[in-house]
Order: sequence, then structure tokens, then C-alpha cells
Amino acid sequence: MKSTVLTFVALAASANLCAAMEIIPIETDATALVYTVGDDGRLYQSYFGERLDNAAEYANLPKGKEAYLTHGMEDYFEPALHINRTATPNSSTLLLYKNHEVIDRDGYKETVITLSDPEYADVVKLHLAAFGPENVFKSWTEITNNEKQPIELEKYASSMLHLTAPGYILTQYSGEWANEANQLSQELHYGKKVVDTKLGARADMHVSPFFQLSLGDQATETEGDVLVGTLGWTGNFRYVFEVDNLGDLRVISGINPYFSSYPLAKGETFVTPEFIFTLSDKGTGAASRNLHDWARRHQVKDGEGNRMTLLNNWEATYFDFDEDKLIKLIGEAKELGVDMFLLDDGWFANKYPRHSDTQGLGDWDETADKLPNGIGRLTEEAKKQGVKFGLWIEPEMVNPKSELYENHKDWVITLPNREEYYFRNQLVLDMSNPKVQDYVFGVVDNLMTKYPDIAYFKWDCNSPITNIYSSYEGKNQEKLYVDYVRGLYKVLDRIKAKYPDLPMMLCSGGGGRTDYEGLKYFTEMWPSDNTDPIERLFIQYGYSQVFPAKVQCAHVTTWNKKAPIKFRTNVAMMGKLGFDLNLHDLSADDLAFCKQSIKEYNRLKPVILDGDQYRLVSPYEGNHTSTMFVDKEARNAVVFAFDVHPRYNEKLNNVKLQGLNPKADYTVREINRADCSADNNPKTYSGQYLMTVGLPLFTNGDLSSRIYELNRK
Ligand code: DGJ
Repeated sequence: MKSTVLTFVALAASANLCAAMEIIPIETDATALVYTVGDDGRLYQSYFGERLDNAAEYANLPKGKEAYLTHGMEDYFEPALHINRTATPNSSTLLLYKNHEVIDRDGYKETVITLSDPEYADVVKLHLAAFGPENVFKSWTEITNNEKQPIELEKYASSMLHLTAPGYILTQYSGEWANEANQLSQELHYGKKVVDTKLGARADMHVSPFFQLSLGDQATETEGDVLVGTLGWTGNFRYVFEVDNLGDLRVISGINPYFSSYPLAKGETFVTPEFIFTLSDKGTGAASRNLHDWARRHQVKDGEGNRMTLLNNWEATYFDFDEDKLIKLIGEAKELGVDMFLLDDGWFANKYPRHSDTQGLGDWDETADKLPNGIGRLTEEAKKQGVKFGLWIEPEMVNPKSELYENHKDWVITLPNREEYYFRNQLVLDMSNPKVQDYVFGVVDNLMTKYPDIAYFKWDCNSPITNIYSSYEGKNQEKLYVDYVRGLYKVLDRIKAKYPDLPMMLCSGGGGRTDYEGLKYFTEMWPSDNTDPIERLFIQYGYSQVFPAKVQCAHVTTWNKKAPIKFRTNVAMMGKLGFDLNLHDLSADDLAFCKQSIKEYNRLKPVILDGDQYRLVSPYEGNHTSTMFVDKEARNAVVFAFDVHPRYNEKLNNVKLQGLNPKADYTVREINRADCSADNNPKTYSGQYLMTVGLPLFTNGDLSSRIYELNRK
């Protein structure tokens, strides 16, 4: 679609001063972010809150605080921008408004506010995209060196937001491998709270790259003012929350500047990643739905397309498989009724065959002993069985015990003069090096060229960057963290351009890569290696704050076999369903139940994956939890209810449903019953009843679960 551009220029009395107060409202259907050009020519953030009907009234707002604070001027708190100059010790920056333009893009409006330094001529462009119906903003910054000499960016935030509220409660999601996205809230008072990571090749592991910020009281699912933000960057990120002397809060979001001062030659421009955010005055549930809608419509690869169910062999075999075993599993995928068989780690390398995670990574030819007829025999078998074939790769990484390492040590991120430290026995390839980028692209391209029937990739990344040193970057080691991620995106751009319809899962030793820039290239992500259904209730709940069910891969495995197959499957049905087990380990009844679940899931996919998600009862509330999905017309809904470990004779309360039409009548019937029987006694209630009185969804049963389907009459 062609873009329309409207340009506004400062009515400048002099080159530096703006004669009139310019007001720049950036609005979604519900929220306004308003900037004002002060009579000193600087840009101020005057407002961030509910959109006013009459935009002329924004003129009544106080000027506010300087929008994008710079180092070296009169503000005493954390700056968004800090430029060092090589030719002069003066590292201050003053930014004055030049002009702004509003560009009508496909589905959103982008405002670009241009600021520049009157002394040094550096130009800063603040980009603000507003997605009207979704009520989502994106903010990023472009910094151009217009000086006669090189400069160095010491701090270069994507976004700075100023908030004024009676109090601030920050909710973050943190944890560890197999224990991701635990919810934790804390009040912010004077001073700084920093949430960041320094993992290099991924954003997540210890803390997820998103937050919720309640303004005033702690927001609930349905009530309260809350800002939800996330950075689209598959690397080191940093959020700084700073309450100042006046009790106002500044939120600075961007790449973590830790060991990342970035040199800019004369004329060069640095573009920061995008910070994505939404403001809700109806609690966290509405904020999540804003982000889910935006993600499916505007961000995730094939966000509005279908998703495949699958059988993965990782937990069924680990590294212990051969052609016969895999052919059997492909047959099992067919028998189960899933769309695809996914071959995981362990299929490659010959000099150092990949029999464990200690060797072979980097040598992407099939192990002859295991697969004498190559991947081709497997895609052929999959075709015969009528299922798709997917393949695991981890192309950015290398085991020291591999031919790749022996032949191309200069491609590896490693310190030349120290003993190597390994995370999962491996090292990270230097994605800043264009030769490595070609090699990584080649891993996918060669496989696709040789085996065009590969229908899916699971792209793994099991190690953060260790031993940080790049022989390619030479003297500019501080560029490496940023250039690594940019190199990765260059490769992913090439793959997306050549294979636009190829679905891929973004995986990183569990949930290491859970960010929205990554999801531009991937159709889904792997939230955690922990597939214990009880843990998954918490982990999926955590990620659902920002990501739709459609991108959360959820597999039924043998983790926590104490939980019945029904409980395990029902949890996985709240995401993108897959299985990772041996069918012959299942009883006949359990197998029949799994087959039924896949059929039900396929039928309900449009509601679960593309509908509105309502977290009715949080797993943090105690022994029960419930989530529902409603389609966009409020016609069909699916309600999931789980009892984890209820107390003896515990009092059970009704659960009020959400998102229905109060005036319509709905039939409610239990589906996916353990004995595969049909509920022949559906009941009818009005939407009003269901949302006001609610339903007795919970029981006193240990590890018990139910799914209800609602259909409008
Ligand atoms: C880590 C992933 O999270 C797992 O699902 C599996 O693919 C292993 N890597 C394979 O090494």
C-alpha cells in the first residue's frame, strides 16, 4: 500500500528556536501520547493516557518533561542518549525540534519527529508507530552522526516514557532454564530499578524481556491502569525504571549498553530496535489482548495463518535413534493424527557423530550409521504417510569437537589467550562475520535445496555467548553484542525472502528467545524445556501476558507422569499443541484420548489460536486455575479448568466467564472427556448468567481438569 506523508516543520524564528508551541499527538483508538515543542525549541512529553475526544484540548496540557533526555545537560537522572566524541572531550548533546511527519502505513500511522544538535549537527529521529484498533505503540530511534569525525554511542535507548501516578508497581517475569517466566511484583520508590540481561545470543533465560507497570494500585486482570512493554531484540536488553525527586517515573527501554559502546563513522546512522507497548485502563487482561491482536495482525510470521500439530522425537528417543526407529515414529505421527513429524537433535555429523551434546554440532551432514539413506528417506516416508516433515537445526553454534571448529576456529566467538568456557559443551559462532552469515544461511538453504519436502524447521540456540571475543571485529570488540544480533537478522531476512512460507519454531534451550523481533521470522516459539503440566500452567500464563497462545508451543510429554494424560493434554491444548512421547508407552485408553484431543483441538483451533484470551483464575491464586478463549464474534468459546492439589473439602467458588455477549444464549457442554464419551446433556445459559453468576468449574479432584465448549444459540 502506498504511504501518505504529511510533513510539519518548525515555525522557526531562528535556526534554534521554535516560535510557536507545536503539539504532536500520537493516538491509537484509546490512548494518546502527546509531545509539545517548548518555546526553548526542545521536545517535551506532555501526556500519556486516555485519548481525549477533542484533540484541541491537548493545548491545555502542561509542557511536561523533556522527551528523550540526553547526557550532559541539566537533567540529573538517567539519560536516553549519551554520545562520546573522539575529537573533543565534550560529550554533551542538546536536541532541538526540527520537524515531524506523519506517514500513513498499512494498518498504522507512523510519526517521525526529527531533532538535532545545534552545536554538533547530530540528528535524532524518534519514530512512533500507533496501531489504532489494537491500541499498541512501537517506538524506535535513529541516530545519525552528522559531525566531521567519528562518534561513539554510549547509550542509545529505543524509547523513553515519562509517567506520573500516585504509585508504581513493577511486575517482572524471571527464572532460570526450565523455570521460566515466574511472576513477581514490587513497588518502585525513589531511585532506579534495572531489569536487564547480558546473554548475547538470546534475550531471555533469567528474566523475560517484558514487564507490566501498574500505575496507582496493582492492576488486576480486569481493573487498573497498566503499561505493558517489551523490546523486539534477540539479545541483551535493558529497562531502567527511575523514580525521580518529584515522584515521577521515567522508563528507558533499549539494547543493554553494557560493553556495547557503538562507533558511528561520519554520515552513519544507528537504528535501535523497536520497543512495543500498550496502555490499558482495564487491567492486564485487556493489555494482553491488545498485544495478541497486534502480534497476529502485524508482527508474527504468518500471524494469521494456520499452525500444525506435531509429533517430536526429542523426549521419545533423545540421541538414540536410527532410520528404522524414525520411520516407526513417522508412522506413529500418522496414527496419532498430527500434521507433522519433527526430527530433533542428533541426526548429523560423521567424523564426530552427534551421539550426545558433546560433539558434532556444526557438521550438518547426516550421520551415515544412523541415516544411511539420508533425510530423503525420511521425507519420502512422511510423504507416504501423509504427514509433513520438520527438522531441528542449531546453525549458530559449534562443538569444539567438530570439523567446523577444526577448520574455521576464526569463525568462533572465543578468547584467543584463555581456556575456553563451555555452556552445554558448545560455543557460539561469530554472526558479525559475513562469512559466518553465509555459512548459517547455507545450512538452511542447502537442506532445502537437497530436500525440498522439509516443511518446517525448529531453530535452536542452546548457549548464550561465552568467552566474548571476535576475531572479525578486531579493535571494535564492543560492537560484537549488537552486530551478533544484526548478523542473525541478516540471515533470517535472507531465509524469509527465499522461503516466505516456511514455518519455523524459535527455540533457545527452552525459552531463551521469546521476543517480538525474532517472531517476525518465526511462526512460533518454545517457551520452556519444562513440560511438566503443573509448571506449564505457570510458564504459559507468564508468557501469555505478552504473547498469544498461537506462538506458544506446548507439547504433551512424560514429564510428571503422575498427572493423567488428560491433564497433560488439556494444558498443552491451551497453546500450539504437539506431542513428544512414544505412542507404545501409552495405554490403549490414553492413546484413544490423545487422538480425540487432536480432533477436538483441530476443530477448536480458530477459537484458541485466533480468539481473545481471558485468564479467569491465575495459577498463582492457589489450587485451581482457568483460562478461556472466545472467538471475535463471541459465538464460540472454550473454557479450560484445572484443579492442581486442592485441600480436603476445600470451598469451591463459581468462576465468572468473560468476553461473551450478555444478551445471547449459549449451550455449555463438557468436551474431551477422559473416556471419550459425549456430553449428551448440554445446558443453556445466557451470556449474562455466565458472566454474572458464573459456573462451578472446579472440583476437589487432585490433578483433574475439564474443557467446556460454549456455542451461541
Ligand atoms: C533444547 C531444546 O529446548 C529441546 O527442545 C531440544 O531440541 C534440545 N535442545 C536438543 O538438543
